[in-house]
Amino acid sequence: MEMTAKILIVEDEGIEALSLQQKLKARGYSVPEIVYTGEDAVKKAAQISPDLVLMDIMLHGEIDGITAAEQIRAHFDIPIIYITAYADDDTLKRAKITEPYGYIVKPFKERELLISIEMALYKHKAEEALRKAHDELEIRVQDRTSELQEVNKALQAEIEERKWAEEALRRARDELEIRVQERTAELARSNAELEQFAYIASHDLQEPLRMISGFTKLLERRYKGRLDSSADEFIAYIVDGAARMQRMIEDLLAYSRVGTRGKPFELTNLEAIFEEVMTNLKVAIEENKAEVTHDPLPTVMADAAQMIQLLQNLIGNGTKFRKREEVPRVHVRAEKKGDEWIFSVKDNGIGISPEFMGHLFQLFQRERTADEYPGTGIGLAVCKKIVERHGGRIWAESEPGKGSTFYFTIPDRQ
Ligand SMILES: Nc1ncnc2c1ncn2[C@@H]1O[C@H](COP(=O)(O)OP(=O)(O)OP(=O)(O)O)[C@@H](O)[C@H]1O
Ligand SMILES: [Mg+2]
Repeated sequence: MEMTAKILIVEDEGIEALSLQQKLKARGYSVPEIVYTGEDAVKKAAQISPDLVLMDIMLHGEIDGITAAEQIRAHFDIPIIYITAYADDDTLKRAKITEPYGYIVKPFKERELLISIEMALYKHKAEEALRKAHDELEIRVQDRTSELQEVNKALQAEIEERKWAEEALRRARDELEIRVQERTAELARSNAELEQFAYIASHDLQEPLRMISGFTKLLERRYKGRLDSSADEFIAYIVDGAARMQRMIEDLLAYSRVGTRGKPFELTNLEAIFEEVMTNLKVAIEENKAEVTHDPLPTVMADAAQMIQLLQNLIGNGTKFRKREEVPRVHVRAEKKGDEWIFSVKDNGIGISPEFMGHLFQLFQRERTADEYPGTGIGLAVCKKIVERHGGRIWAESEPGKGSTFYFTIPDRQ
């Protein structure tokens, strides 16, 4: 043990105190002070901060050793050993409360005292080390805790931020959704109005037009050859123009009817539709000596009459826009992809120029004159309207001089 331990002796019997000091010094302890009263003991303890106090209990003066020990322990962490002749129960009880490191009853053997001193010093040191370790641990725990709290706070902030961003995103999406819905409704409304207008206009135009063409025909029949030759020519133009206009108006009516006269969708076997289309196109196909073939075709939810119109337009175009020198061939296919069917109508005809591609599906847009290839240019516009009514898309690919392929999709919603 530490041999230079500093010991304060509190003992009012002068001779005894000195002899004790001698003995301890001889054992290598440092004993700088001897005090004789409790008051002095408290004072000296504060001044020299000894490693140990040997405290007599019965002292002259105001306070006894136990009270002095109480006061010392209240302010300093100094181990105390009582040395006393009095070991009655009351004294013991009072002494015990001050948590002494030893209690030696006079007379005692020197060896007994030394063991008590060493034990006290050792115990005190061990306690100190333990306290220090405990404090360090405490600090580490606190550090870790506050570190964790920081991290926690940062995380919390991040969560808040993310929540906020998500909320903002959701709000923006909802707003957009509402705007899209509004725009869609608006568009549907104005579309319906326009369709209604086109329908009424076309319908009402038919009557005066019928009158014009009727009376010009009459004029032609009655006065042909009776007026001069220019007049005959003019009348022929009027008849021709009126007929063309009539066809266009009929086409326009057919176009409006896609939306207004559509039937509810029902299971429609496209094999049967194909056969019907072939019957309708029989004359044209035979005239052109065309070959129209197809892969197996599915059954889909659709408006059967419109499916006929659609395929008839596409196959009709395929055989019509033929190259003079080649047998026209048209092939129809269907392929399931995801939740829709992709149909294709492929021909080996004259093809479509890249510049015209953008006008393909517009009303009355044609790349060739009616003299070259008959028609008014309504077919593909009707096709587009039909496909879109069914929730699909339509487009074309073509290489001028090589042929064209028209594609359209129909959702598979059996
Ligand atoms: N398979 C095709 N090959 C080459 N050109 C085509 C083909 N299909 C359409 N086109 C071009 O697109 C134009 C528009 O086609 P659409 O079917 O709308 O009208 P049309 O066939 O000329 O007349 P209608 O169909 O009213 O009798 C055609 O005039 C033609 O120039
Ligand atoms: Mg056509």
